[in-house]
Amino acid sequence: MAGSRSTLNKRWARWLLFAVMAVGVWKVIFLGSLDAGMQSSILATWKNNFYEREPSARTHGRAGLYFEGVKNSSGETGASTKGAVSIVDDICEDWLEKEDRIIYSRDFKKDPIWVVGEEKDWNTCGVGCVFSSSYSSERKPDAGFGFHGDSETASVLRSMESSHYYPENNIDVARGKGYKVIMTTSLSSDVPVGYFSWAEYNIMAPVLPKTEKALAAAFISNCGGHNFRLQALEKLQKLHVPVDSYGACHRNRDGRVDKVEALKHYKFSLAFENSNEEDYVTEKFFQSLVAGTVPVVIGAPNIQDFAPAPNSILHIRTQEEISYTVEIMKNLASNSTAFNETIKWKFEGPSDSFKALVDMAAVHSSCRLCIHLATQVQENEEKAKAISDSRPCKCKKGSETVYHLYVRERGRFEMQSVFIRSHNLTLKGLELAVLSKFKSLYHVPIWKTERPDVIRGSNELKIYRIYPVGLTQRQALYTWKFHNDDNIKSFIEKNPCVKLEVIFV
Ligand SMILES: *[C@@H]1O[C@H](CO)[C@@H](O)[C@H](O)[C@H]1NC(C)=O
Ligand SMILES: *[C@@H]1O[C@H](CO)[C@@H](O)[C@H](O)[C@H]1NC(C)=O
Ligand SMILES: *[C@@H]1O[C@H](CO)[C@@H](O)[C@H](O)[C@H]1NC(C)=O
Ligand SMILES: *[C@@H]1O[C@H](CO)[C@@H](O)[C@H](O)[C@H]1NC(C)=O
Repeated sequence: MAGSRSTLNKRWARWLLFAVMAVGVWKVIFLGSLDAGMQSSILATWKNNFYEREPSARTHGRAGLYFEGVKNSSGETGASTKGAVSIVDDICEDWLEKEDRIIYSRDFKKDPIWVVGEEKDWNTCGVGCVFSSSYSSERKPDAGFGFHGDSETASVLRSMESSHYYPENNIDVARGKGYKVIMTTSLSSDVPVGYFSWAEYNIMAPVLPKTEKALAAAFISNCGGHNFRLQALEKLQKLHVPVDSYGACHRNRDGRVDKVEALKHYKFSLAFENSNEEDYVTEKFFQSLVAGTVPVVIGAPNIQDFAPAPNSILHIRTQEEISYTVEIMKNLASNSTAFNETIKWKFEGPSDSFKALVDMAAVHSSCRLCIHLATQVQENEEKAKAISDSRPCKCKKGSETVYHLYVRERGRFEMQSVFIRSHNLTLKGLELAVLSKFKSLYHVPIWKTERPDVIRGSNELKIYRIYPVGLTQRQALYTWKFHNDDNIKSFIEKNPCVKLEVIFV
């Protein structure tokens, strides 16, 4: 079956090429009927295919057909290739730029994403974006907070509370309830809303002398919690660790102080959250970083993902680890060299990993919501019209294939065309191609004005991650990666005109 389809495709290819040469238009709709079913099933499952790294089902698919169509092969495609030569050479990229372009039916400048919510125009957002309870638009709102009965308006859940207290904030529970877009502290949610941001916290504030006698300070207003933080506090007392407690829980100091200013004079800060939930990291932690005190954390099991540098925080994962952690605290407190090493990032700047995380918040979550929604609107249109089926996405240049990719910076909406040749289709090659494109545009990273001066870096662009649009931030930042050159190659081949996002640091 596949074999005969392939022969058929080749014959069509020749004809098609002729048609292209003659008319200069690449729209052969009836061809779609040949393998439309196959195409749409591929479209629907490309992500799955990719993540599971299954062998491609598209060996005989449309992409291959186009490939042959423009191939400069004196043998296989015969006389009709003669015409192809003119496409093939220097105008390959120009031709792709034109042929792959999609004119979407909705122009977000004229018809912005409309979210029912508190009145505000996000006019600095990368896509047209209006928050309002009423708005003159021919269509229904794109989204609204809480539940919306009709299918045109996406129900959005936005909350910064722990799902251990508000079970509805658990992603699976919220999806089960019908929420289309989930915005929680979880980096696996659609549009994460974290406690962190450069604007909120002066992360690089100078370190002050550690003048307080007590080893650590605590600001815990409620002793309870869905974890062992109370037991931990009591165990510290038992182990004779002097703790100044400013919160209602075991208070021994007057709580009417500026929290961050007070913290600056301690070596350690007890950043005990009220629940140990992935990605649930609150101001307790970030204020400790501002203060230049080492956070001793009971909280998110993945708190190290939020550390400003390796070995810069202490994490008590279980009650059994309390005594051990106290040993480390005492050692650090008595060895100023060692202690200074744990806060070295305050002098030298945090890790790229930390910058990449906090930079996410350089774009307000409302704006990221609009970008998320607009991206979906366009993807739905592409799917509905099977637009991917009618784009070449690659062409032949001499002995090489030129691939067309679309790349945007995280936090922006607009895509840039990036072309990459088959022999450059490697991890390094992809980075170079993306870098040279953004350099040619004099691109300024979106976080540039948000980050503290001292860690803004030079004007050189540096890539931290490149990943397919649609991944969560948890995947993009921590769990997903192009593993090797073959991985990139097969991915780009399987996903014509793929859309990628880049994070600069
Ligand atoms: C203090 O810490 C430094 C760095 O970790 C280490 O090299 C040194 O041996 C320590 N000094 C003492 C007295 O333990
Ligand atoms: C800590 O290290 C920084 C450089 O990393 C240095 O400027 C500072 O003086 C040191 N402080 C102490 C108390 O050793
Ligand atoms: C096409 O192939 C022929 C024969 O292999 C070669 O002479 C010619 O230079 C090629 N043209 C281009 C544009 O690659
Ligand atoms: C592509 O490869 C060539 C030769 O291997 C190299 O000189 C060039 O810099 C590469 N370009 C990119 C964008 O990777």
